[in-house]
Order: sequence, then structure tokens, then C-alpha cells
Amino acid sequence: MSDRLAVITGATSGIGAAYAEAFAQRGYHLLLAGRREKELCQLADRLTEQYAIKVQLQIGDLSVHHDLHTLVDTVTLLPALDALVNNAGYAVDGRLGDVDWSDHQALLDVHVLATTQLTHAALPNLIRAKGILINVASVASWIPTGNSALYGPTKAYVRSLTESVGLAYRAEGLKALALCPGFTITDFHSRMGLNPDTFYQKKGFVRAWTAGQVVEQSFKDLNKGRLISVMGWNYKMLVFLVRHLPMSWLFAALGRSKSARFTK
Ligand SMILES: NC(=O)c1ccc[n+]([C@@H]2O[C@H](COP(=O)([O-])OP(=O)(O)OC[C@H]3O[C@@H](n4cnc5c(N)ncnc54)[C@H](OP(=O)(O)O)[C@@H]3O)[C@@H](O)[C@H]2O)c1
Repeated sequence: MSDRLAVITGATSGIGAAYAEAFAQRGYHLLLAGRREKELCQLADRLTEQYAIKVQLQIGDLSVHHDLHTLVDTVTLLPALDALVNNAGYAVDGRLGDVDWSDHQALLDVHVLATTQLTHAALPNLIRAKGILINVASVASWIPTGNSALYGPTKAYVRSLTESVGLAYRAEGLKALALCPGFTITDFHSRMGLNPDTFYQKKGFVRAWTAGQVVEQSFKDLNKGRLISVMGWNYKMLVFLVRHLPMSWLFAALGRSKSARFTK
């Protein structure tokens, strides 16, 4: 058993829980953060028993500054750290002016402030360990999300931050990855009132992938030294098209989109 440690935010469900499982399988001890204490305790008990690892929990809301600072202090004071996954996140639907500022502020705090501050706090240990930094962005980081006003922009920030930090510390051995999933089967969309049974497609251009598939792809991409991980032929093709076709085509297509995330 190694003494490696991974810190994962938003580990309660979905992609974060899949990362907890994946790092546990690889023999890492875990520090898991999230708000839902009961679910996190159940996950911690199972992983401890199944993989014979140590799991610590830190319960808190990353949009509450006291809770974020407590986690930042914990990460800063760790004697060693081998991996950080900034995964906690969600979407608030509505155009910029439709949503109360307090809701925008909370999203900015979780996606931008927490990701940046936790990355900053973890860097000295991660560099010493030649460790792993995974920040969870989205395919939406390349696409204007007019009716989920801050989702695309904050995910673009997360991707750009990860590219910048990853390149800046690559020579020192840091392995940084911006995870950019498309539709992934988690609690994300049911939290937004969507029915998972009808929302997630099993095939076609908007087919959804499982959190386990997304996470395993990200480890393959990390091993290849990639900075960005996109799971699935469909989202790889989408990202390629968005990045290479004229922006005017994208804007015209979004104007006709039926997705509430992009247009009203
Ligand atoms: N599912 C998709 O289609 C998709 C696509 C692209 C990107 N993503 C990104 O993937 C990440 C994980 O989402 P998911 O799909 O796995 O959805 P999920 O199952 O809803 O997981 C979101 C996680 O974030 C945590 N979280 C949310 N708000 C928080 C807050 N204020 N403070 C602390 N923790 C918070 C939640 O934990 P608690 O509820 O316990 O706090 C939960 O563990 C997010 O960053 C999301 O933007 C998802």
C-alpha cells in the first residue's frame, strides 16, 4: 500500500465519486469534500473497506467562505499531497439578468474562487510529488451558454487556468488536466429538474457517457501527457468543429438550438 493522498471536491456523487473510486483502486488514501454528509460517509465506509485505504471527510459548502477557507487551510497544512481534483460544480439556468446576484456569486465562488484557491494551496506539495491536478471544466467551456449565463464562462476560466498552470509547471513534473465532459450520467441534470430517464441519450450526437467512462478516459489522457480530456467520439467531434469552423457558424447554430442551456 502506497502513502499517496488525493483530495477530491464534490466527491459525493457523479464524476467526483467516480474519481474517489478510481484513486482508491490505484491505492491512494483520500480526503473527500462535499456537502451531503450522509452520502459521503457511506461512500467513505465502502471505499475504506473495499480498498483498505484511509478516507477523511471535510463537509462544507464551497460557496460559503468559511467552509472554503477551512478546506484551503487543510490542504495548505497537509504534509504531502499527490493529487487534487477540483470537481465540485453545478449549473444555474437563466440569462444573466434573470438570476439573483447571490446565485451568480455562489457559482463564481464554487467554480472560479474555490478551484483557483485550492489549486494555489496544493501546488507546493503537488510539485514536490510530481503529482496530478485535475480541474473539471466542460465541453461548454468552448460554447456560449446564453441561458445558463455563467456556466460556460466559468468553465472556460477553469479550462484556461488549468492549461496555464499545467504548462507553467510541466517542466517540474506537474501533470495537469482540464476534464471537459459532455453530457455525463450523474446527479447534475436531475438537480436541474430534468428527468434522467428521458434526458440522457444512449446513442447519436448528444449521447451521454457514464462518470466511470469519463474518469477512466481522463487517466488515459493524463498518461499520454495531455492537458485536456474529452470523453466520447461525439464530444471530441463537437469540440473539433467548434474550434475549427468559423465562429459565425457556431453562433448561427446556437440561434437554432433547442437546448435551454444555450438559447431561450
Ligand atoms: N454531468 C454532466 O453532464 C457534466 C458535463 C460537464 C461538466 N460537468 C461538471 O462535472 C462536475 C461534477 O458534476 P457531476 O456531473 O458529477 O454532478 P453531481 O453528481 O451533481 O456532482 C456535483 C458535485 O459537486 C458538489 N457540489 C455542488 N455544489 C457544491 C457546493 N456549493 N459546495 C461543495 N460541493 C458542491 C456536490 O456535492 P454535495 O451535493 O454533497 O455538495 C456533488 O458531489 C461539475 O463541475 C460539473 O459542472 C458535468
